[in-house]
Amino acid sequence: MTVTLHRCISCTLFLSLCFVRLQVSVVAFGTNANKPPGNTEASTCFNRQLASASPSNIKYLDSYIDGLNAYGSTFYRKALRAAFGLLKKTPTTSQRDKVILFLTDGIPSDSPVEIMESIKGLNKELNNTVMIVTYGLGEAASSKGTEILTSMAEQNGTLYEVELEPNVRKGAFIPILNPSELRPRMGLYYALFLKNTTVQEPSITIPYMDAWGLGVVTTVSLPLILEGQLKGVVGIDITMADLLSDVLYLSADALSYPFVIDNRGRVMMHPLLPSPVGAYEDPIFVDIRDVERNKNFLEVYDDMLKGKAGVKQLMAESIQSRGETLLEGVVVQKFPAMYYWRPISVVGYSLALVLVLEQHAKHSMLSPLAPSAGDFLYHRLDLIQSQVDTSQCRYFGNIAIKDRSTVKFAPDAFVDPYHYLDSNESNVTVRQYSQYMNDVTTFATNPGFKVRVSITASDFKCS
Ligand SMILES: *[C@@H]1O[C@H](CO)[C@@H](O)[C@H](O)[C@H]1NC(C)=O
Ligand SMILES: *[C@@H]1O[C@H](CO)[C@@H](O)[C@H](O)[C@H]1NC(C)=O
Ligand SMILES: *[C@@H]1O[C@H](CO)[C@@H](O)[C@H](O)[C@H]1NC(C)=O
Ligand SMILES: *[C@@H]1O[C@H](CO)[C@@H](O)[C@H](O)[C@H]1NC(C)=O
Ligand SMILES: *[C@@H]1O[C@H](CO)[C@@H](O)[C@H](O)[C@H]1NC(C)=O
Repeated sequence: MTVTLHRCISCTLFLSLCFVRLQVSVVAFGTNANKPPGNTEASTCFNRQLASASPSNIKYLDSYIDGLNAYGSTFYRKALRAAFGLLKKTPTTSQRDKVILFLTDGIPSDSPVEIMESIKGLNKELNNTVMIVTYGLGEAASSKGTEILTSMAEQNGTLYEVELEPNVRKGAFIPILNPSELRPRMGLYYALFLKNTTVQEPSITIPYMDAWGLGVVTTVSLPLILEGQLKGVVGIDITMADLLSDVLYLSADALSYPFVIDNRGRVMMHPLLPSPVGAYEDPIFVDIRDVERNKNFLEVYDDMLKGKAGVKQLMAESIQSRGETLLEGVVVQKFPAMYYWRPISVVGYSLALVLVLEQHAKHSMLSPLAPSAGDFLYHRLDLIQSQVDTSQCRYFGNIAIKDRSTVKFAPDAFVDPYHYLDSNESNVTVRQYSQYMNDVTTFATNPGFKVRVSITASDFKCS
């Protein structure tokens, strides 16, 4: 096989296998059958069982396939034994569909009788739950290869006098006459699993890094079925930042926070992880138990994984950098908080909200560099031009000042961040911000900041 061919197989794997619940491995075969050894960055389990089809695992399989060289004979049986072995060792549920995609460009070196006996025996050990889809390229797609590949796919060995096993799941033989069609042809196995139900749940992929710069995205897709016939698939890429933006703004004060995990406990969003827009590498999946370290959290964890809703009081932790994290360390604060959680059922995620109990909501994490009262200056100097007494200058066409710093608020600072994002600021709003932040009397009206921000403002004044 050529490298281009490998590439195509990899894309096919990637495209079709990156759905949340899929598990996958690869068996390369010739004279012998080999499985990827696995590495510590991706999963190490490939050799033993199927690994979840996460982006990093697919990438690893990709590079494994890229490194393969074709040589020797073509022993189908060795490949089948290895593939059934992986399926057998993988913990699974009865609802999971199991399929072996058997791609070959050579006719078998072993006898058809042996092959068919072997499939029959191996599948019986798995209660005949495994479907086999065979793909023939080159010689294997010619009349010489078609017969055995068809028999394998139908798991019907009567041509070779192997007795028929009832209740097998029939697959299909798909010849690939033109190698450039490898990708669409290999994807056809999907149709065999299509269930004829009118209401289909959308499929949602594990978040992955979008190659075109959108950041971390997830693909949501639905089959398009017209008059009982599959016509195609509609899909949309949604950035995680969009998907979770409501949640990102949810917290009522600085110590309360939301987090989202998927149905295997992997963190989709948590304040201790970079925000979805801030991630540049392939997403790395962190187990929520590594982030929520309280041992009583395990009960919440179990419930969240089971898709239940609930509420519980626990000690939460806030970890804040003292300055430069490596050299100056962090301050860890513990405080009682209510954990609320409920499933986001369609996606199989679970959302939790950690609300700090009110009497503990204040904490003093003031930087020694915090400005003194009266120093607050909002960045829209253009709106309050006449009131800024210091020396103004032009910088890239904007009004700037040299001797003081100005402040811009993150949407997060407001109770209603959307209002802040969508409305035009005027000299009136800027005056409100300034009055509030510079207020010595603490009587100024809060122009819409979250509680925590106002506390920070009054802390300002006392220092
Ligand atoms: C096969 O079915 C039997 C009886 O239903 C069950 O006890 C056994 O666990 C099943 N084996 C597998 C591998 O699914
Ligand atoms: C099995 O294959 C034989 C020969 O091709 C065919 O006659 C028979 O109908 C097949 N049986 C099933 C159950 O498909
Ligand atoms: C799917 O179901 C619809 C109605 O329930 C039926 O008309 C159609 O023939 C079915 N299609 C297939 C492929 O079974
Ligand atoms: C904000 O200002 C822009 C341009 O000055 C205007 O087009 C827009 O309608 C304004 N939006 C609101 C909400 O007032
Ligand atoms: C805001 O600016 C408008 C003109 O742009 C002016 O008429 C008004 O007096 C200003 N209001 C305040 C509070 O400065």
